[in-house]
Amino acid sequence: MFSLKVALSFGTLLPLVHLAAGQAAEWGQCGGIGWAGATTCVSGTVCTVINAYYSQCLPGAVTPAPTSTTPATSAPPGTTSTPTGSAPGGLSSIPASTLFQISNFGSNPNNVGMFVYKPKTVAAKPPLIVASHYCSGTAQAYFTGSRFAQLAETYGYVVLYPNSPHSGTCWDVSSNATLTHDGGSDSLGIASAARYAIANWGVDANRVFAVGTSSGAMMTSVLAGAYPDIFKAGIVDSGVADGCFSLPGQPEDSWNSECSEGELILTGAEWADRVYAAYPGYTGARPKMQVWHGTVDTTLFPQNFFEEVKQWTTVFGYSSTPISNTSESYLPSGYSNATFGPNFQAILAQGVGHTVPLFEQQYLEFLGIA
Ligand SMILES: *[C@@H]1O[C@H](CO)[C@@H](O)[C@H](O)[C@H]1NC(C)=O
Ligand SMILES: *[C@@H]1O[C@H](CO)[C@@H](O)[C@H](O)[C@H]1NC(C)=O
Ligand SMILES: *[C@@H]1O[C@H](CO)[C@@H](O)[C@H](O)[C@H]1NC(C)=O
Repeated sequence: MFSLKVALSFGTLLPLVHLAAGQAAEWGQCGGIGWAGATTCVSGTVCTVINAYYSQCLPGAVTPAPTSTTPATSAPPGTTSTPTGSAPGGLSSIPASTLFQISNFGSNPNNVGMFVYKPKTVAAKPPLIVASHYCSGTAQAYFTGSRFAQLAETYGYVVLYPNSPHSGTCWDVSSNATLTHDGGSDSLGIASAARYAIANWGVDANRVFAVGTSSGAMMTSVLAGAYPDIFKAGIVDSGVADGCFSLPGQPEDSWNSECSEGELILTGAEWADRVYAAYPGYTGARPKMQVWHGTVDTTLFPQNFFEEVKQWTTVFGYSSTPISNTSESYLPSGYSNATFGPNFQAILAQGVGHTVPLFEQQYLEFLGIA
């Protein structure tokens, strides 16, 4: 039931993203199983079959143009859903402008799937965005249902899309292992891929970011708490506070209905302690955070928004009263943007359920990319 709700509400976003014109844009999707959008491409681009689920408008030719001189692997279009089965190597070994699966990127106890999207033109010392999907979603679905990859073509950052290994494809945000720095489970697999990218792809370690929707938003909070040394900012779309789903001793990936229903009410100090406990002894900077939530969310109740506000204002030592709380011209009416300080903004969307639509361009501004 939960998965169904997520799938339906997220699905409503897709027409906004894809149906702007009769022809798909450059880098846009133009076919694949389940695809109902445009099947022709704007002029100068060719609709190219990447795999059974995904065809993409590629500029000019039938094969994506690699950015660097010689790709180490001559991976043709069609490898999207096929594990490479080997270490991913340097960024030049990743084919451009396609969703490409990597493996052997470091400690990954739960075998989290990992996909990378490298734009045609990569910025010097590119930023990295880790984009985590919702329950019932996949890396592929979040890739096609969001504009992170499309905007990477403009701004030159690299995207990692993790893929949940669990039945129902939620993330483990409940076990002690996942909630703890280098403790194991899903979060460690994701952190390992980010570390790999920093060490081997020339990614700017000061511009590594996490974003996610629903379960992926909860994972984003977990990554912010357990891996503040890696992630410099997090954007949480319809999630919960870090540690809210904690159920130590229960199986990994357990559902915490006390939290989801907004009944876990803690003080700011108690919430901050969950962040500190995620990485004992860590004294460095914390990732800046932006959280979004709808007031009629019946999957992760809106009280979770106010618990997130308590958590991050306490962590940053901000007043619980926002400096400003205003509408924004680019957002639908009923959205309020509460700013508590340079490192924390909380956007509440009146009348919006689960989940708040993505505002990728604004996220990039918050992340300092756009
Ligand atoms: C949580 O996990 C960490 C890392 O594995 C471990 O050191 C710690 O003892 C665990 N705490 C509990 C309460 O199980
Ligand atoms: C910002 O203001 C709106 C009303 O305009 C209110 O509903 C919301 O709770 C406020 N946000 C915060 C974080 O206090
Ligand atoms: C919220 O307001 C602050 C301060 O005006 C602004 O810098 C920020 O971009 C706004 N955030 C959103 C999500 O619009």
